[in-house]
Amino acid sequence: MPEDLFGEDVAARYDDSGGEHFEPAVIEATVDFLAKLAGDGPALELGIGTGRIALPLSQRGVRVSGIDLSEAMVARLGAKPGGDQLEVTIGDFATTRVEGAFMLAYLVFNTINNLTTQGEQVACFENAAAHLEPGGCFVIEVGVPKLQRLPPGQSFVPFDVRDDYVGIDEYDVLNQGLISHHLWPADGGWQRRSIPFRYVWPAELDLMARIAGMRLRERWAGWEREPFTAESRRHVSVWEKA
Ligand SMILES: C[S@@+](CC[C@H](N)C(=O)[O-])C[C@H]1O[C@@H](n2cnc3c(N)ncnc32)[C@H](O)[C@@H]1O
Repeated sequence: MPEDLFGEDVAARYDDSGGEHFEPAVIEATVDFLAKLAGDGPALELGIGTGRIALPLSQRGVRVSGIDLSEAMVARLGAKPGGDQLEVTIGDFATTRVEGAFMLAYLVFNTINNLTTQGEQVACFENAAAHLEPGGCFVIEVGVPKLQRLPPGQSFVPFDVRDDYVGIDEYDVLNQGLISHHLWPADGGWQRRSIPFRYVWPAELDLMARIAGMRLRERWAGWEREPFTAESRRHVSVWEKA
């Protein structure tokens, strides 16, 4: 089982993290997109967390189940109104099976990168596909690796700078590794939390999907179906199970 990086200290702050992903308009666009794909069928969120997306999606009438490693994140979901109606399994979303056949599986907010080896990422696609009905879709939202924005010879690139928070990505280009450093002011200095990821290109994800018996159906730069271009900083991709 991978290490749980979302323990009580992180879960306690998660919903107040701020940033674009917590803006109501972004959540609404995400839920719109996913609800259309789910149709009348059930949905499975890999890395369901505190229910940022799963709860509003279930309020739209979609039956949502989830998998997550973190007891602390899931406890927060369970404490929210309607949270106890969702079926959540504690486990690794690369390998954990839950009951049911789904029309939609989704993995948002860069969480595919939490799997730090290619083998685990492939296993995750295979696991998602195993949960889908034929014609069902797997959706991933993830950043495009920022290698074009790395200064020559450097491995650090900031991704978010606010008055009370600085986020910096550190790239290990040789090993396709990435560490996100989160810094915030505390006790007259800075506190830091560093999380390891594996960055992955869209084309590599398409190959993982193919290995798992799925084909790319759509790729956008965001939840509003913005065109995906060479400048896009992230993508929302939809693969369909044969
Ligand atoms: C960035 S949070 C996203 C939570 C939620 N999906 C959202 O969009 O707000 C990542 C979540 O994925 C979970 N996670 C990370 N790696 C996991 C793994 N291998 N198996 C299951 N859950 C995992 C974490 O515990 C955490 O709840």
